[in-house]
Amino acid sequence: MSTFYIKGGTTLNGSVTIPSAKNAILPILACSIMCGDVVTIKSISRFSDVDYMVKILSELGCITEFQDDNLIIDPRPSDKYCIPEEYTKKIRSSIFMLGPLVARFGKAKVAYPGGCNIGSRPIDLHIKGLQSLNVKIEERHGFIYCEAKNIVGGEVHLDFPSVGATENIMMASVFGKGTTKIYNAAKEPEIEDLQNFINAMGGKVKGAGTSTIEVVGVNKLGGGEYTPISDRIIAGTYMIACASSGGKIELNNTNYTHNTALISKLKQSGCNIKLKNDTIYIEVGHRLKSISLLETLPYPGFPTDLQSQMLILQTISKGSSMIIENLFETRFKIFTELKKMGADIIVKDRMAFVNGVKTLYGASVTAPDLRSGAGLVIAGICADGYTTINDIYHIDRGYLSIEKDLNSLGADITRT
Ligand code: EPZ
Repeated sequence: MSTFYIKGGTTLNGSVTIPSAKNAILPILACSIMCGDVVTIKSISRFSDVDYMVKILSELGCITEFQDDNLIIDPRPSDKYCIPEEYTKKIRSSIFMLGPLVARFGKAKVAYPGGCNIGSRPIDLHIKGLQSLNVKIEERHGFIYCEAKNIVGGEVHLDFPSVGATENIMMASVFGKGTTKIYNAAKEPEIEDLQNFINAMGGKVKGAGTSTIEVVGVNKLGGGEYTPISDRIIAGTYMIACASSGGKIELNNTNYTHNTALISKLKQSGCNIKLKNDTIYIEVGHRLKSISLLETLPYPGFPTDLQSQMLILQTISKGSSMIIENLFETRFKIFTELKKMGADIIVKDRMAFVNGVKTLYGASVTAPDLRSGAGLVIAGICADGYTTINDIYHIDRGYLSIEKDLNSLGADITRT
């Protein structure tokens, strides 16, 4: 198993270009199986989760081919609607194959999904949402069976603005008879990107980015080209890395409107941030002030996917901080690893209380999941001495080559 070996104490300076977003690409790939012609996803980022999703599409009979940094998908030969556990257990995004499969084939058989171990990750909102569209659903022997002679547009009220459930229901209703309205929908930028992809292929969706989405059923989708949005979580991770290590970096190919909650918190803590077109500049020359209270919330609130990274920053800021994780019940696993690095932190259920220390010190730690693995990389860069991070395969699920990006800014990370 690969590890990272990090020499700490470096500051970050220079520029990095942010790739297209994992959490935009994954639902778009799922949706591509509904298309009636060849789809080209441009500037695709080959995270391991993306490669895995492409494997699932090939398993279902799609023809897929990477050409330079584009992915060509011909979904027409696909004739399967069953995804076995060997394919679903690794990634959460397999769950939102349900909607596209039942929309295209009238049925679907998908094994329960896997994904980051950050909580129970229930799928009740997906199931209830699809049932509201006249989809018959049974769960047995570890599989979810869906059947719908015809999907009928209806009203779906989500108890929680679930990203995946919103995406699943949006896709399931594209060919529905009549109009579907999704209330209390998730408002993440990736939802809007999925709407734009569906419409580019001939669908009729509006309202994504607000809490009410309307889908007017169409007979089919065509094909075409599409470029997904930039990855706001990677951009946020690198901003927090610079805030933690000190230095001056610029991030290109960003959309800062997708990171307003983070930018506000980083400015509050003393970062100098400038925003110009698709570039974010951040400069930090001193130890930052702690953020007294940080709560994760659905978009546009502070994103749970940047919570671990922000926790690291708080462990070395001036003062105390309370962090509350409202989205996932076990997203503080990183704290045991931070204790090894000298962090002064107490965790109780969904709350972490942090007293900032002057510096962390290097240690041997293990990445519990994708985003806390990225957080540990930031901790290693800031720590005094050397840090080894085990199980870095988690990090490759959502970062193309985190060490290449950060080393180009002056970090000293070796993948072994
Ligand atoms: C998506 O996961 C993202 N993954 C996650 O990013 C992200 O953390 C999450 O949204 C929240 O923003 C992808 O887009 C592939 P949810 P998802 O459904 O769809 C509860 C990363 O690091 N819930 O919005 O699984 C659930 O328990 C990953 O890139 C139900 O109760 O998240 C959680 O408390 C990690 N029932 C809350 O909703 C359901 O049926 C948010 O989950 C579904 C969800």
